[in-house]
Amino acid sequence: MDNVNANIEKVLSQKIFKPNRDFAKLARIKNMCEYEDLCYNADSDYEKFWGDLAREKISWFHPFNKVLNTENAPFYKWFEGGKLNVSYQCIDRHLKEKKNKVAIIFEGEMGDYKVVTYRKLYTEVNKTANLLKNHFDIRKGDRVVLYMPMIPEVAIVMLACARIGAIHSVVFGGFSPEALRDRIQDAEAKLVVTADGAFRKGKPYMLKPAVDKALENNSCPSVKKVLIVERNGEDIEYVRGRDFSYNEMIAHERSIFEPEPMDSEDPLFLLYTSGSTGKPKGVQHSSAGYILHAQLTMEWVFDIKDSDNYWCTADVGWITGHTYLIYGPLACGATTLIYEGTLAYPNYGRWWQMIEEYKIDKFYTSPTAIRMLYSHAEHEPRNYDLSSLKVLGTVGEPINPTAWKWFYEEIGGGRCSIVDTWWQTETGGNMITPLPGATPIKPGCATLPLPGIIAEVLHEDGSRVENGEQGLLCITKPWPSMIRNIWGDSERYIESYFSQVKRDGMPIYFSGDGAIIDEKGYITITGRTDDVVNVSGHRIGTAEIESAITKHESVAESACVSKLDPITGESLFAYIVLHENVPRSMGEELEIMKEINGILSKEIGNIAKLGAALFVPGLPKTRSGKIMRRILKSIARGEEVKQDISTLEDPSIVEKIVKIVTNV
Ligand code: PRX
Repeated sequence: MDNVNANIEKVLSQKIFKPNRDFAKLARIKNMCEYEDLCYNADSDYEKFWGDLAREKISWFHPFNKVLNTENAPFYKWFEGGKLNVSYQCIDRHLKEKKNKVAIIFEGEMGDYKVVTYRKLYTEVNKTANLLKNHFDIRKGDRVVLYMPMIPEVAIVMLACARIGAIHSVVFGGFSPEALRDRIQDAEAKLVVTADGAFRKGKPYMLKPAVDKALENNSCPSVKKVLIVERNGEDIEYVRGRDFSYNEMIAHERSIFEPEPMDSEDPLFLLYTSGSTGKPKGVQHSSAGYILHAQLTMEWVFDIKDSDNYWCTADVGWITGHTYLIYGPLACGATTLIYEGTLAYPNYGRWWQMIEEYKIDKFYTSPTAIRMLYSHAEHEPRNYDLSSLKVLGTVGEPINPTAWKWFYEEIGGGRCSIVDTWWQTETGGNMITPLPGATPIKPGCATLPLPGIIAEVLHEDGSRVENGEQGLLCITKPWPSMIRNIWGDSERYIESYFSQVKRDGMPIYFSGDGAIIDEKGYITITGRTDDVVNVSGHRIGTAEIESAITKHESVAESACVSKLDPITGESLFAYIVLHENVPRSMGEELEIMKEINGILSKEIGNIAKLGAALFVPGLPKTRSGKIMRRILKSIARGEEVKQDISTLEDPSIVEKIVKIVTNV
């Protein structure tokens, strides 16, 4: 493995902060003894541990008869025989005691707001389920793609799908029409739900035209209809017989729809994410295991209380938006805030103002957002009363100690625990994280696995690394909210997650991340070991980037790696080899670079723009033709090349590239 970089060394030497005592007294898990007791219970009888929790937390329509079935590993099955409905779990069961409690607070970027009580959420979800079934023929197992902004209707449609038993697949609104088309085609969706658009940076922006483009030339024959929610009121085209207005139709629907009893293992949703090779993969999640973990981690990690106002800033198009904006909080009967816009509109005080106004208790965001707010307006938070905050969370990427300390002091006033939560689209929910009332925290360190989650840092042969040594972060026992499959591609599921690390011949889930474990068992994530780049917490596969770059007619080949970035954590750095006949000049290269960025934003979306590109005469390759990306990564990061280059087809290429970098 690579040497530990300077940032990680800084994390490892950080001092520890103890949880706030007053908070801990009232927390569900109050100290490390309680945490260890839970871990002990899980260790002594894993199935009983998870079975008891599933019985306690889920309102079953029919009880399960087996906790875990490993017969067809790694296609694990949890809570077999059980029947439930996730929308019932998130809404109906709260109605008796909480019908007038606010489920969703929505704030638009322009300052408009709306509250949706649990009773109202019930009505709207039922009406929407009727609409989807009666007018769009959506049945159990059908796929519905959502391409929507951050508005309450996105939660309503997701829950309506869950109520019917249809499988939703939310596509992030920043993805391009091409990327949307790929996902619709892969999921073979029957219906696309979108909006005219929304508001961003003070202006309307559009979504519906991207759907039109994705569907043009009958490129998605599975899609029969498109349902459009009106949000920004801008003019859009309605294709006759295909496009329908949600706002017009919903008024006529009945507000009762019996939730479909679903098997525990029936898929709840697909969410596409990038891997190290090929096209994005449709990560398939189950109903029971997923919702159990979403709910449980809201209780353990956010210590969610009935009186809490909770805010997760993630977009619904990512897994954090699924689990910690919608499903987790609603399964707990909590109040969740959905904010439509950007963090800097009309200024860098917007989020702090919202925390003050809504008296937010628990706040969950990304390190990139923290770094942006810190670097643009370090002292802005002082203009607001943030004293309601009790727990702060970060997710999606490593947080550097400087940003951590600012978050801790300036936002948390030195009294809030920061839960640095490590997890992935594939894990469904938090896996390694401090518990706010119990775990002593260390800036930049995700600390300890949750009870019942067996995380280990291993060599490829399944043996444990020494403390302080870098290894592969693996989850060595199946867990309820784990990915069940890659939609339509079981082989890729095994290949992606269960092929690299084995212990006694048995496949083990490998996350793709490197990590270091210390003598206390604290785990520090060192970043992806594969060809996935994490830009602003967005996962981007370099294979997708390279295949888009080579669509440019002047490009012969390219290799993309990550470079460290002070705000976005990582950025994309491409090495580009042009065809021999392409004229070379600074102007020509700049033009090509511009065109390549145009292709990337068309093929993938604006999140895939290159941070930097370097035109090089060739790429370092092994004799069998494999590009040595590790070498390119070291060069991009300004590190010394320590890898053995003697086995390269042309070792002199490394020196040539280093020379170009030094001269830029
Ligand atoms: O590399 C890890 C990083 O984000 C990856 C998962 O990305 P995604 O599936 O998009 O899910 C993001 C939200 C859960 C991981 O493989 N990552 C996630 N959380 C952390 C992290 N890296 C460091 N520290 C974290 N807390």
